[in-house]
Amino acid sequence: MDTLSPLAPNSAEARDIAYHFHSYTNAMAHADMGPQIMENAEGVYVFDNQGKRYIEAMAGLWSVAVGFGEKRLIKAATQQMEKMAYYHNFAHRAHPAAIDLAEKLVSMAPPSSSGPMSKEFYTNSGSEANDTVMKMLWYRSNAMGKPEKKKFISRIRGYHGVTIASASLTGLPYNHASFDLPIDGVLHTTCPHYWKEGRDGESEEEFATRCAEDLDAMIQEEGPDTIAAFFAEPVMGAGGVVVPPATYWEKVQAVLAKYDIIFVADEVINGFGRTGNMFGSQTYNLKPDVIVLSKQITSSYVPFSAILVNERFYGPIAEESGRIGVLGHGFTGAGHPVGAAVALENIAIIEERGLVDKAAETGAYFRHKLGQFESHPFVGEARGVGLIAALQLVHPEFETKPGVLGAAMGKELYARGVISRPMIDAMAFCPPLIIERDQIDAIIAAVGEGLEVLSKHEFHTA
Ligand SMILES: Cc1ncc(COP(=O)(O)O)c(C=O)c1O
Repeated sequence: MDTLSPLAPNSAEARDIAYHFHSYTNAMAHADMGPQIMENAEGVYVFDNQGKRYIEAMAGLWSVAVGFGEKRLIKAATQQMEKMAYYHNFAHRAHPAAIDLAEKLVSMAPPSSSGPMSKEFYTNSGSEANDTVMKMLWYRSNAMGKPEKKKFISRIRGYHGVTIASASLTGLPYNHASFDLPIDGVLHTTCPHYWKEGRDGESEEEFATRCAEDLDAMIQEEGPDTIAAFFAEPVMGAGGVVVPPATYWEKVQAVLAKYDIIFVADEVINGFGRTGNMFGSQTYNLKPDVIVLSKQITSSYVPFSAILVNERFYGPIAEESGRIGVLGHGFTGAGHPVGAAVALENIAIIEERGLVDKAAETGAYFRHKLGQFESHPFVGEARGVGLIAALQLVHPEFETKPGVLGAAMGKELYARGVISRPMIDAMAFCPPLIIERDQIDAIIAAVGEGLEVLSKHEFHTA
């Protein structure tokens, strides 16, 4: 059973358990398999160096929206390389691909807390994007004459990256332990996982109220004027595919509005169709001030990330950089023309092929099938939204061995040609948006067989 979340993220106990999980999940999932070298990929499949085919039911790292080997993306990259392989976006210079993509992203963005998303800033990875938002928020608070407004709140089990700042936002103990993280001024509030955190007799909505009250209490305790921003994934990914309980987001957003706290929606996994809408913010009626995008923006054919902001966020930053004379921040590769060209083509494919609606439809089918396993004695919960889901494995015999069931299942699926990701004992599924029903059926069949193996304890538990 997953016993991580009730612990303070950086407590000694949490660290011990995290190491325990980590070794189980990583080592046992791959025990006896040796290194797994993937050499080729096409559609939803990857092929290892022995020629064995796997359904990439994680789309790599929650990434490859349009599938592998998409010729239009290869062509877009090649053409941009031939035209202009590199240029930057510094010192009042720019290039058409970055400009066109910024305009496209701003035009498709959902509404923000005040007015539309109006500006866009490029980075190279999700971690770097979140790190940049944190840095910009410090700058903004200084610009507004509020130097004390520098703290950030994220959530236990949230995932926001691994740089010093973004890893501090991440609420997973093994991203902190021995790294001297989190840094001061980053706080973690309740993980909104009803199945795991809900109390006996507490309804889903009551649990959502408690989560919002916990956030309110944390803000009060720290001092509302010290909190710069709240960072959250609309649906948590790497922390276990945590789907928010009913009414959670409206209650949390009310708290943020009450204290004038900037809301950063980390849509690095959610963005570009994953939750059955173009953005997770639309699925949950979020009105963030900042949206962080990466992964599916280029289907991860090229490393790329982007930050969308509204005027509320941007205004003080623009004024401050005007006073200083320059905005002293930016990356050599940010807004890379090849990445920008691939992102534009990737978004065009998602729109032209109706992949957002397809994800909603195929996702509903997948989650329905996965839900049928809920009566299995080794399954605690099947959860998900759109085309992202998790199957929570649980069994009294394994309560003191977190990660064993997940690792065993990962191995069984892999043997059957399906790549999933055990997150302790939750199996994550996040296949390319192009996946077809017969391929979903193949994943479901492998899960069914894997559960039968678990029932018979035919796996290595040493
Ligand atoms: C929600 C979220 N934010 C940020 C990141 C970090 O992105 P990257 O690995 O590109 O630094 C990830 C990566 O999985 C993520 O899932």
